[in-house]
Amino acid sequence: MKERNWVALVLAVVLLKFLGYRIQASFTPADNYLIACGSSQNVTFQGRTFVPDSRHSSLSLKSGSSFVASSNSSVPSPIYKSARIFSGIASYKFHIKQEGRLWVRLYFYPLPKSGQNLTSSPITVVTDDIVLLNNFTFKNYNGSFLFKEYAISVTSNTLTLTFIPSNNSLSFVNAIEVVSIPDAVLPDRALSGLNPSASISGLSSSGLSEFAMETVYRLNMGGPLITAQNDTLGRTWENDVKYLHVNSSALNVSVNPASIKYTASITAETAPNWVYATAEAMGDANVPGMNFNVTWVFPVDPNFQYFVRAHFCDILSQSLNILVFNLYINDDIAYASLDLSTLTGGLNVPYYKDFVSNSSAESDTLTVSIGPDSMADTTNATLNGLEILKLSNDAGSLDGLSSVKNLLPRSSSRKNNIGMIIGCLAGAVALVMALIGFCFCCLASSKSKTTHQGHHPWLPLPLYGNSLTMTKMSTTSQKSGTASCISLASSSLGRFFSFQEILDATNKFDESLLLGVGGFGRVYKGTLEDGTKVAVKRGNPGSEQGLAEFRTEIEMLSKLRHRHLVSLIGYCDERSEMVLVYEYMANGPLRSHLYGTNLPPLSWKQRLEICIGAARGLHYLHTGAAQSIIHRDVKTTNILLDENFVAKVADFGLSKTGPALDQTHVSTAVKGSFGYLDPEYFRRQQLTEKSDVYSFGVVLMEVLCTRPALNPVLPREQVNIAEWAMSWQKKGMLDQIMDSNLVGKVNPASLKKYGETAEKCLAEHGIDRPTMGDVLWNLEYALQLEETSSALMEPDDNSTNHIPSIHLAPLEPFDISVSMINGGNSGTDDDAEDAATSAVFSQLVNPRGR
Ligand SMILES: *[C@@H]1O[C@H](CO)[C@@H](O)[C@H](O)[C@H]1NC(C)=O
Ligand SMILES: *[C@@H]1O[C@H](CO)[C@@H](O)[C@H](O)[C@H]1NC(C)=O
Ligand SMILES: *[C@@H]1O[C@H](CO)[C@@H](O)[C@H](O)[C@H]1NC(C)=O
Ligand SMILES: *[C@@H]1O[C@H](CO)[C@@H](O)[C@H](O)[C@H]1NC(C)=O
Ligand SMILES: *[C@@H]1O[C@H](CO)[C@@H](O)[C@H](O)[C@H]1NC(C)=O
Ligand SMILES: *[C@@H]1O[C@H](CO)[C@@H](O)[C@H](O)[C@H]1NC(C)=O
Ligand SMILES: *[C@@H]1O[C@H](CO)[C@@H](O)[C@H](O)[C@H]1NC(C)=O
Ligand SMILES: *[C@@H]1O[C@H](CO)[C@@H](O)[C@H](O)[C@H]1NC(C)=O
Ligand SMILES: *[C@@H]1O[C@H](CO)[C@@H](O)[C@H](O)[C@H]1NC(C)=O
Ligand SMILES: *[C@@H]1O[C@H](CO)[C@@H](O)[C@H](O)[C@H]1NC(C)=O
Ligand SMILES: *[C@@H]1O[C@H](CO)[C@@H](O)[C@H](O)[C@H]1NC(C)=O
Ligand SMILES: *[C@@H]1O[C@H](CO)[C@@H](O)[C@H](O)[C@H]1NC(C)=O
Repeated sequence: MKERNWVALVLAVVLLKFLGYRIQASFTPADNYLIACGSSQNVTFQGRTFVPDSRHSSLSLKSGSSFVASSNSSVPSPIYKSARIFSGIASYKFHIKQEGRLWVRLYFYPLPKSGQNLTSSPITVVTDDIVLLNNFTFKNYNGSFLFKEYAISVTSNTLTLTFIPSNNSLSFVNAIEVVSIPDAVLPDRALSGLNPSASISGLSSSGLSEFAMETVYRLNMGGPLITAQNDTLGRTWENDVKYLHVNSSALNVSVNPASIKYTASITAETAPNWVYATAEAMGDANVPGMNFNVTWVFPVDPNFQYFVRAHFCDILSQSLNILVFNLYINDDIAYASLDLSTLTGGLNVPYYKDFVSNSSAESDTLTVSIGPDSMADTTNATLNGLEILKLSNDAGSLDGLSSVKNLLPRSSSRKNNIGMIIGCLAGAVALVMALIGFCFCCLASSKSKTTHQGHHPWLPLPLYGNSLTMTKMSTTSQKSGTASCISLASSSLGRFFSFQEILDATNKFDESLLLGVGGFGRVYKGTLEDGTKVAVKRGNPGSEQGLAEFRTEIEMLSKLRHRHLVSLIGYCDERSEMVLVYEYMANGPLRSHLYGTNLPPLSWKQRLEICIGAARGLHYLHTGAAQSIIHRDVKTTNILLDENFVAKVADFGLSKTGPALDQTHVSTAVKGSFGYLDPEYFRRQQLTEKSDVYSFGVVLMEVLCTRPALNPVLPREQVNIAEWAMSWQKKGMLDQIMDSNLVGKVNPASLKKYGETAEKCLAEHGIDRPTMGDVLWNLEYALQLEETSSALMEPDDNSTNHIPSIHLAPLEPFDISVSMINGGNSGTDDDAEDAATSAVFSQLVNPRGR
């Protein structure tokens, strides 16, 4: 079994690499328990075999008193033929091979002839930390059977499902499924009611994984019921008609399911092609002008928040860019002017978007509407599928306000109490240690200030002169009476801006100053009162998900200061706003200078200098700090250019500190951008600096070939730039596919060195890839080759930005270009750094790590 999983994984990766975006390998769950409780034989249900609980080897049932019941009389479906009935607290313990999200599906049917009156038995089910079902009885329920589906996160190697009967009563269950969910299906992040980012949803930032979820609705719009056997993840999708607010407002449309074109990020695991092949479109509601919304109304428990995923696929249109419409959730605009063609690049290409929402203000319902966009050419709208999942509340419950601890009798929660005491003790010890550590840091800080050894990047130092603005955090730490070095440390997260200052700087977030929209929010150009131009990134208001990213970015950036990293000037967290203020980068993202705009093409030398700059920034991240930092989202849109075309690495929202000394990797859920994702990271979920090196290799190829990392429109072998460029590089014919603007203007030796460097970065195994230091060295070499040749051939080089002229000598890239701002001398570090750099260049003879 284990072997088979491994093979499946490798196969999936091979497919990903060779077919580019066309991955459709079916998913094999690492954990796959299908249990028919109390049965004496296997039960086949919806094409799957459920095994009796008494026969299951890696499952244990702990229970004082349980017995089985079965029935031959008519039951709703074969899975309900048997049940296990508990008269005391009972648990099923599952051994879990792969941590992460799991489906837990529970089947209940009060067997009529069991000898017991199960209809009135209250059912309470909890996992180790989540309440799934609390005091449910069939007495007050309209249906004859109950099916529940949950998605819970498991971070240990066991999962315990405990059934708690109330006083002298019974509890029961008919069948249980515990099945792994692929990471990509339920992301860590969703939007809450604002215009979404361009990044692929589910592949950025964090937040949702903390919640357990319960599926409340899963609909196949305009299509038939899809049961577990027709869904690779065993999900059930029902028709939507009974939730339609106005019957005739919607009209079902369908195409052949085989014509659905899955992509790298959206596969049959996201939803079966039957879901995307049918849809509801706008019908005839007898409304003049055909201007109306199609609305679905869902009864929900108003005490919870809901994760809403809307699935789209343009199966209506005859040509691109005709269908533009709006999506509303609870009367709020969730996605305005949704233009599927732009998002997907084609017809019949699936797409989905995630949101988090409450029930609507005063009723117990959640409504979802689609309606035409007033700016669109045609009046129509479409929705293919809809999933609504309840999110667990603060008590860790999906049903009621009691937590697991409240529901379990005291004797069994005692262990937890002991655990808590130990936890508190450990916490106290850690706190004391941290205090000592901080004081130590402060001492070290004053020392490094006096000696000007910029080698302690962990020291958070004020970025803006000597601003020691008190933030909320520092005030609380002062209140608690801890040493003053803490308030100093936490106040140095940069300058604190008031929200009014931000409003003034951006002319109240004037849309004409919008620079771009990213994963975290919108970015505006701003001007501070002293005339400094800045970029102001405003987090989506009210988005809990952005908060973690906001913190990461502040914490990372305030520790780092480097000529080739975009600097954080300050931030604002007033009025529940999350605003980050950065230095302004006049020339925008590197990508816009490569393709997709009318900007003049960059010369080969400029490209090399930009790549060298970015490589320096990354090299500093990897080696400049006490603990290395992995960027995780290296791509051409995250490399920004200032007015002199100096490249700076931006967007640290996903960054992670690298492995500690005794480890070789960080284990983490795969995040990043498709096309740049290290296949080894994808396969093993182990993050190292070499994952950034791979992504940087993709950037190098993109810079040379001026085309996107993934372009699904191209013939299959060209879709993925890493694959395609590597095949030409291996033939030594990279010049055949490079930007036509460069043809004849590149020194062949320089190109050769560049190609070899990119090739090494894109090596299959991280261990075979060079460090960023080596990459930097090689790119410098390529620049040397270019400069020597252009000095001979075309002396009137019009490039605007020069790396200080260096003569060919092996160099040690490790200690250069690390510069910390010390107190007040923030303005002049560039010159100082360049001087230091040349000095280091001329001194060093032997490069380390080559
Ligand atoms: C029940 O199903 C399991 C797993 O599919 C299989 O190994 C076993 O042989 C089956 N038992 C019977 C009696 O069919
Ligand atoms: C129920 O059905 C099984 C097989 O279908 C049979 O062996 C058993 O005798 C039946 N039991 C009753 C009570 O009818
Ligand atoms: C089971 O209990 C419910 C409620 O107490 C009652 O309405 C129902 O008639 C009972 N059924 C049987 C078969 O006793
Ligand atoms: C469980 O629900 C019943 C009604 O269905 C109610 O009488 C009882 O008090 C509830 N028990 C708890 C512990 O909430
Ligand atoms: C149960 O069904 C009855 C009659 O069909 C209906 O009036 C009632 O609202 C339903 N209750 C629920 C909770 O759906
Ligand atoms: C459970 O038992 C306690 C005491 O034994 C009693 O006070 C309570 O009312 C019982 N609850 C139910 C739902 O029967
Ligand atoms: C679509 O609508 C037509 C007519 O309203 C109906 O006959 C057909 O069954 C519907 N198809 C599905 C899949 O609901
Ligand atoms: C579901 O799967 C079954 C068996 O594989 C097939 O016969 C049926 O046509 C499928 N139905 C749909 C809606 O795909
Ligand atoms: C909605 O349409 C369905 C099928 O066309 C019909 O059975 C149902 O009665 C209609 N409901 C209402 C409220 O008009
Ligand atoms: C929307 O598109 C469908 C399918 O092309 C069409 O049948 C329907 O009439 C259109 N609705 C409107 C309001 O134009
Ligand atoms: C559609 O619904 C939204 C939200 O309720 C509303 O603002 C908008 O005016 C509606 N559009 C039409 C055409 O009724
Ligand atoms: C949504 O619910 C959460 C928790 O109940 C609450 O804090 C928040 O204010 C609600 N938001 C809205 C817009 O109602």
